[in-house]
Amino acid sequence: MIRILLTGGAGQVGWELRRALAIFGYVVAPTRELLDLASADSIIAAVNSVRPNMIVNAAAYTAVDRAESEPELAMQVNGGAPRILAEQAALHGAALIHYSTDYVFDGRKEQPYREEDLTAPINTYGRTKLAGEHGVAGSGAAHLIFRTSWVYGPRGHNFLLTMLKLGRERKEIKVVNDQFGAPTSARLIAEATAGVVAKTLSDGKLDLNALRNASGLYHLTASGHTTWHGFAQAILLGKSGMAKVLPIPTSAYPTPARRPQNSLLDNAKLERQFGFELPDWKVGLELCLEEVGER
Ligand SMILES: NC(=O)c1ccc[n+]([C@@H]2O[C@H](COP(=O)([O-])OP(=O)(O)OC[C@H]3O[C@@H](n4cnc5c(N)ncnc54)[C@H](OP(=O)(O)O)[C@@H]3O)[C@@H](O)[C@H]2O)c1
Repeated sequence: MIRILLTGGAGQVGWELRRALAIFGYVVAPTRELLDLASADSIIAAVNSVRPNMIVNAAAYTAVDRAESEPELAMQVNGGAPRILAEQAALHGAALIHYSTDYVFDGRKEQPYREEDLTAPINTYGRTKLAGEHGVAGSGAAHLIFRTSWVYGPRGHNFLLTMLKLGRERKEIKVVNDQFGAPTSARLIAEATAGVVAKTLSDGKLDLNALRNASGLYHLTASGHTTWHGFAQAILLGKSGMAKVLPIPTSAYPTPARRPQNSLLDNAKLERQFGFELPDWKVGLELCLEEVGER
């Protein structure tokens, strides 16, 4: 049995992690009131009180457009807090699992991005998440950083739930068709995380050396690829009375934060290291649509 301190337990990925990690021991998932990532004191107090073997940081400042006008707060939560969590993990002999994003890249590469590709974020959120990666990597803690993309699930704020709502309300929805990525369900991220955790246990206890040996950065997304337009079409596929999904270029949908054109991540390193095959994005989509009662 291990003790896991989970941040962001009310978020998309965090909620799924509460379910997926429960088999390993005690999962303590304080609310933001009890563990505020914008406060170093709050982070240190929570770690001291839980005394975890593993910290799983699923919390983040994820409002990509709002981050352009709140860069300090976004940097505290996404850049500063992961470093403090990692330092605390190192201090307590715990491991850290942290999540990052395809937005650390500029999206100009024509192939899926690999872990060692040059980072060059084009928005504030991406810059803050990259700072978080650096803080974790430089902490000396045994750590795993999973970069993922286009996250959705049955709860929270996400593209799938927005499309289902707009699909009912409108006759037409215009969706960008020149950004490429792999929609990844929060459930897949949590289940893959649990699969990795299982491989770092020995007799039910955390094998810190095994985790230290595997430490580093991994891309973790569903397989395959589509555009936001293709994703929207797949969400509304076969449902009568729903809006028509029309393709538009990014230039017709200006947002405060720029998005990378290519968000595709290459999962080969994760699959090789942990022996997984990550399913196509449509598999996760069907499961999620069933879960929200839309199939
Ligand atoms: N969403 C995406 O498309 C996407 C894409 C790539 C990578 N990621 C990464 O994947 C991870 C999980 O994202 P997600 O989509 O599950 O996020 P989410 O649904 O937006 O949930 C974020 C969680 O973080 C918590 N949080 C925010 N600020 C906090 C603070 N100051 N102190 C404590 N908790 C705080 C939120 O708490 P409240 O419930 O109180 O608001 C919420 O529970 C993040 O690292 C994110 O950067 C996400």
